[in-house]
Amino acid sequence: MSDDRDSRVGRALYGHELFKSGRVGEWERVSSLAEAFDAGTRAVLGDLCQGRCLDVGAGPGTITRWLADNPRTTEVVAVDRDTHFLDNLDVQVVRTDLTADRWQPDEPFDLIHCRFVLMFLPQRRDVLKRLASWLRPGGVLVVADPRRMYLPVTGHQPFRVAYRALWEGLVSTLSADPGWGDHYPYQLHECGLVDVGVRVDVPPLVGAGPQARFWAGTFDQMSAHLIGSGLVDRQILDAADAQLRDPDFTDVGMGMSIAWGKRR
Ligand SMILES: C[S@@+](CC[C@H](N)C(=O)[O-])C[C@H]1O[C@@H](n2cnc3c(N)ncnc32)[C@H](O)[C@@H]1O
Repeated sequence: MSDDRDSRVGRALYGHELFKSGRVGEWERVSSLAEAFDAGTRAVLGDLCQGRCLDVGAGPGTITRWLADNPRTTEVVAVDRDTHFLDNLDVQVVRTDLTADRWQPDEPFDLIHCRFVLMFLPQRRDVLKRLASWLRPGGVLVVADPRRMYLPVTGHQPFRVAYRALWEGLVSTLSADPGWGDHYPYQLHECGLVDVGVRVDVPPLVGAGPQARFWAGTFDQMSAHLIGSGLVDRQILDAADAQLRDPDFTDVGMGMSIAWGKRR
């Protein structure tokens, strides 16, 4: 079995065959995702941000940096399996695989944030429980992942056909859960957290805008798999790409369920 496979599920892992940090265009792809969703995330974190904070699967580090700049934080730690994009941040950066390593923080946290990470981990429930266990009493865990959304294929045909195929491809290659965000209120209760809250953020999907650039980059990386597995053909992908680059194109964007809960 290759190093790129998770022996427990026999599927590819995020950051190995797909979404490698060193791949041309990956920085732009993850930065566009952050640009699309940072405002919604900051709106939730604004009231909760204080003391010692952890950003889990920090990626391009936009939220890590924002936490570090907040006068109410005393210390910020960022963890990721691939810390390539975090090298220049003035915070403690820990390279760890949440599913394989048993990294434990020295001290508990007042705030833990984890966005668009657990949906990709087959062991997402176990990892969520571990994150909750790293909170100090009164500390808050904030988790965010996609709101389940399969767009009906009516108008905007190429984009919507490609978008549907993309999600099917993410499920079959990475064991991603396209609606994992919708489980969070219940899952946070299951972790023993209280004062659980949730909101949904659906930033606009406008051609050439941040979310459109993110999807264009994602289609590009997934294209060989999507075409190879017969989910979609090159013509559809090219037409979807053209729509995503057209400033006159508008559609419903991906929603993010962002939920939080406090440790007693
Ligand atoms: C889609 S990016 C999200 C980045 C960032 N949280 C954001 O929302 O801007 C997913 C991140 O999770 C990290 N990741 C994926 N699997 C991981 C694992 N098993 N352990 C630690 N980090 C992981 C990836 O390296 C990547 O940086």
